[in-house]
Amino acid sequence: MRRPMVAGNWKMHGSRASVGQLLDELLRSATPPEVDVAVCPVFVHLSQAISTCQGSALSVGAQDCSTHESGAYTGDVAARMLADLGCEWVILGHSERRAGHTESDGLIAQKLQAAAAAGLKPILCVGETQAEREAGRAGAVVAGQLRGALEGRDKPVGLVVAYEPVWAIGTGLTATPEQAQEMHRFIRDELAALDGLDAAATRILYGGSVKPGNAGELFGQPDIDGGLIGGASLVAADFLDIVAAAA
Ligand code: 13P
Repeated sequence: MRRPMVAGNWKMHGSRASVGQLLDELLRSATPPEVDVAVCPVFVHLSQAISTCQGSALSVGAQDCSTHESGAYTGDVAARMLADLGCEWVILGHSERRAGHTESDGLIAQKLQAAAAAGLKPILCVGETQAEREAGRAGAVVAGQLRGALEGRDKPVGLVVAYEPVWAIGTGLTATPEQAQEMHRFIRDELAALDGLDAAATRILYGGSVKPGNAGELFGQPDIDGGLIGGASLVAADFLDIVAAAA
């Protein structure tokens, strides 16, 4: 019922040369037709990625967008500009932006609305820190992030949620398949409690140190619909292996 999806979050990595090479390597292999595959480079490499991926199975997403449509917002990029360029996706609420740019749930909610109005499909990231998990607050934190971003607002068409426990990002630590499944189930129940969202049809991706060696077991869980991949998405062979694991 839910199409599996694997998206590569390239974060602030790459050059025109390395982006070209990585895309060439990815496009040389046919990805399984039943998996949606996306790559999310930095803003300045989006145009290159979109033209290189044109007509292929790879879609392209941005890593953030502005809450505003246009205006005097130096350094910001509007969702409409991303859609106009040919982006299909936008990652919103990544923990690196929540922490490094003090993005609040309220701001993320506005970005979700801006993205949806522009026709971009948002990948909304949620996840608890190590301290929050140890304090037994993981569920409350994630539920708060979901409600803060989605409650009482129009639900973006094509919304994807990514559960990324902060303690698993770039650390080599991964949630066990059981831990991840438990949280994904919880997220689906939380989504079901919100008006206007078909929780059973909403894809929930797992992110946090997903590698070829652990992807299969994670993606085999009933409520894990694929992955949002950081480090391993920069290595074509690893990313392709992870995509294959989602098929
Ligand atoms: P890693 O796969 O490098 O842990 O990063 C996960 C992530 O933050 C994807 O958005």
